Amino acid sequence: MNVDDALVAAAIAARHHAWAPYSHFAVGAAVLCEDGTIVSGCNVENVTFGLTTCAEQVAILKAVSEGRRRFLKVAVSSPADPPAAPCGLCRQMMAEFADDLEVLICGTEGLSERTTLAALLPRAFRPSDLEGERG
Ligand code: THU
Repeated sequence: MNVDDALVAAAIAARHHAWAPYSHFAVGAAVLCEDGTIVSGCNVENVTFGLTTCAEQVAILKAVSEGRRRFLKVAVSSPADPPAAPCGLCRQMMAEFADDLEVLICGTEGLSERTTLAALLPRAFRPSDLEGERG
């Protein structure tokens, strides 16, 4: 299995762990780290709704908390038709750790579309934006 197939499979598999009793919209995500590790995540909803965390964010938070901060690709699997692209918050979280990366948008069965973070979030707010004059 090549690395893209493994990443897509990990995102699809992660959907099975989704905690989505309110939306019934199970999302899985997987990030390919620079060292070749694949870290997956699922959406975790909360009765207060605002505490809900997206699958992509869970995957990134897991990877960073394990010492992995450099990502090459991310796959996201959702039941939407056509399959859903990462939400704006997730795009911004990706931008924190990658100038650009490949985004594999998947349905529940496999890859649907390839795009990039640069295409999904042009002119991102970046750490370098904080380097100018403050106050
Ligand atoms: N969701 C994700 O996990 N990732 C996204 O990029 C968009 C939305 C989740 C959040 C919520 O649990 C459900 O999908 C419906 O919005």
